[in-house]
Amino acid sequence: MKHEIVEKNIGLMALFMALAVSVGGLVQIVPLFFQQETTQPVDGLKPYTALQLEGRDIFIREGCVGCHSQMIRPFRAETERYGHYSVAGESVWDHPFLWGSKRTGPDLARVGGRYSDDWHRAHLYNPRNVVPESKMPAYPWLVENRLDGAHTADKVQAMRTLGVPYTDTDIQGAKASVQGKTEMDALVAYLQVLGTSLKNKR
Ligand code: HEC
Repeated sequence: MKHEIVEKNIGLMALFMALAVSVGGLVQIVPLFFQQETTQPVDGLKPYTALQLEGRDIFIREGCVGCHSQMIRPFRAETERYGHYSVAGESVWDHPFLWGSKRTGPDLARVGGRYSDDWHRAHLYNPRNVVPESKMPAYPWLVENRLDGAHTADKVQAMRTLGVPYTDTDIQGAKASVQGKTEMDALVAYLQVLGTSLKNKR
């Protein structure tokens, strides 16, 4: 009979429904915050260098994530092509993470070390130079734009605030380590480190 009260009172029913859905959701989500597997960096993970961090910002600015995911799913077809599937501990220091969901081009989660720096430079300058059938856009301005490092230390500091273990020395040296480098140098440095913390162990 108590059930009848709920069934005949839409307000009460809505309240209980909201409660049921919330509890169901929280039971799935909350444990993830406390599981080592999802919160701890994988062994050997290193924070991005200042140059790689600048490269990552260029990756975001140029919209590369709109065509490239960084998330290898645990399926045979994926691991055979790209390597070990992505694990959460690899991206705990990525703020924001760039897993993406659109794959017009290949996944880049483990592209680090797959090609030479020169290949990347030629490819980013004009993809058709190395992959004739490519429909990826060209990014020729990357070789002309130079970094002045004006905000690099702030960026490293911001990452430290978010929990990335940078030292004071990292922050002090940030500007000098990128000054005069081109955006191409930074982006290639970033691409070359992607996925290597796990890859190197195999
Ligand atoms: C419009 C979609 C599109 C955008 C935007 C795009 N790419 Fe691509 N990318 C592709 C396609 C398609 C390929 C495959 C053909 C090729 O290798 O050029 C590719 C290939 C690549 C490869 C080689 C991957 C491999 O495993 O062979 C890299 C590295 C890469 N892109 C980096 C970038 C970066 C960095 C940016 C941003 C500056 C970017 N892409 C923007 C579509 C895109």
